[in-house]
Amino acid sequence: VREGGAAEAAGGGGADTVTVRVPAKVNIQLGVGGARPDGYHDLANVFLAVSLYDRVTARPADTLTITCEGPGAAQVPLDGTNLAARAAKLLAERHGIAPDVHLHIAKEIPVAGGMAGGSADGAAALLACDTLWGLGSSRAELLELCARLGSDVPFSLVGGAALGVGRGERLTPLEVGGEFHWVFAVADGGLSTPAVYGEFDRLNEGVRVPAPKASEPLLAALRTGDAPALGAALSNDLQPAALSLRPSLATTLTTGRAAGALAALVSGSGPTTAFLASDAVSAVAIARALLASGTCVATHTATSPAAGATVL
Ligand code: C5P
Repeated sequence: VREGGAAEAAGGGGADTVTVRVPAKVNIQLGVGGARPDGYHDLANVFLAVSLYDRVTARPADTLTITCEGPGAAQVPLDGTNLAARAAKLLAERHGIAPDVHLHIAKEIPVAGGMAGGSADGAAALLACDTLWGLGSSRAELLELCARLGSDVPFSLVGGAALGVGRGERLTPLEVGGEFHWVFAVADGGLSTPAVYGEFDRLNEGVRVPAPKASEPLLAALRTGDAPALGAALSNDLQPAALSLRPSLATTLTTGRAAGALAALVSGSGPTTAFLASDAVSAVAIARALLASGTCVATHTATSPAAGATVL
């Protein structure tokens, strides 16, 4: 995307405008261990990028400013706490320059929905600023900065599918043998990720939570593109915590299953719910049934895998 006559500058060290498209993620496995001394949880986190995108546009400005449009934009902070703003500051600091940039976020990914929307904007802003400022950072440098911004940010940069261990930020790419069809049901209002992890800890008080491990049947289903097998292997250890904080999500899950979903689960820390469909036609039918049931405020159909953050 080029705007305001910036076309001729795009390839060099100083484009006028840079837009980056970045995908949402669904966790097809979210294996969570016990709380660590630093408050984080060790994860066996299988990320899959889906074709639901935010776009972040960076252009030169006198000072760091952010604007946002799209569903849920009113809930997005426009101050220094926004992950896109933090990304611009971190990158500028690393290179000893001022983060004087305007970032415009066009949202499609549900806000505070468990689909890494904030993390996606952080990764996109990092890549957009790196391009706008002509810094030419290596992928390894960008990934290191992503990991400092948040546990899910590195995956937003790389996309595709990956196993994340540690906090979820240490990634190994995974092979995906086919296209998968998804429906996402957007709930009314968000859930705070720390609050869901806190509820996980409360529900597991006194329990020795085993170390999480990636599911072999799940990885095999991903590798062969086998949707029914993938559906049978989906799991999310945060789901009981999300349902405890938002019991109405159980009805949304039941509704999607009844409409023909191969499987249904809470996406990440929720409250977005994810439904695996056997094909595109079934996905549309599931989305319709979910919307008609009144158990969600919006639906999206999407496919996976999707490419990571990309300069348009
Ligand atoms: O890394 P990030 O800032 O995205 O994490 C947000 C919150 O999610 C953390 O403050 C923590 O409460 C929780 N979290 C966790 N264990 C992880 C990742 C996140 O407890 N592996």
